[in-house]
Amino acid sequence: MMELQNINLFMNDKNVLHSINLQWRKGESIALIGANGAGKSSLLKVLGTLVKPNSGKLKYPSDLSVKEWKKLLGIVFPETFLYHSLTAYENLRFYQKLYGKINKDRIDEVLKQVKLFHVKQEIVDTYSKGMKQRLSIARALLHNPTYLLLDEPFDGLDSESKEILKNMLLQMRQKGTGYILVSHDSEQAWELCDRAVLMHEGRIIAEGKCTNQGYFPFIKRYREIVKEKSS
Ligand SMILES: Nc1ncnc2c1ncn2[C@@H]1O[C@H](COP(=O)(O)OP(=O)(O)OP(=O)(O)O)[C@@H](O)[C@H]1O
Ligand SMILES: [Mg+2]
Repeated sequence: MMELQNINLFMNDKNVLHSINLQWRKGESIALIGANGAGKSSLLKVLGTLVKPNSGKLKYPSDLSVKEWKKLLGIVFPETFLYHSLTAYENLRFYQKLYGKINKDRIDEVLKQVKLFHVKQEIVDTYSKGMKQRLSIARALLHNPTYLLLDEPFDGLDSESKEILKNMLLQMRQKGTGYILVSHDSEQAWELCDRAVLMHEGRIIAEGKCTNQGYFPFIKRYREIVKEKSS
């Protein structure tokens, strides 16, 4: 289990995360919901060790080191981490090398999953926004991560690609890959996850299980809490 204990994060003197406590069990899928500026991306960056919190503790699963934790992680962030002057294939080969051995079959497999196999020798700079996003997803999945951080992964995707990604996530969930999903389509995120965590102004303000009938009451309650806190 990955655990955040009492995490505080300041950015340019602004308290962006306040005393965050979160437990993320292996294989668990969590929907992270909240308005713009709530701190969702900041929280994912802490989990992805891209930013260091000012206080609090990250407890990695089975006492792994940071380096080992990073190897288990796949990250899909709005910054795609792609090299635009390289081809899709070269990008994936580069990332695979960072994680270990080159496996051309695995590269082709993920490219097929995101429907980019036919354009794998084209320079990423010539890709559309949605194609770059799909390649960013392929990059994140290449090393079969156990934990995935997904910051608005559906952003920029057309309806067919959204459906493909949705099915990929459902498959991963069945296989036991855990993910934290940030999405402004909270109803879809609810469908794709075991648990929802709601953030408001840098705090976790509510949590709940993503049951079939639970979505509308949960969102209603969330809106009430936000109203109470803002008034
Ligand atoms: N580099 C930074 N410097 C200063 N403040 C920052 C920085 N990055 C984020 N913030 C602030 O932290 C708060 C949380 O930002 P964050 O990007 O985590 O929100 P979010 O929930 O992901 O929002 P969105 O839905 O718009 O992506 C915001 O008030 C934002 O202005
Ligand atoms: Mg964000």
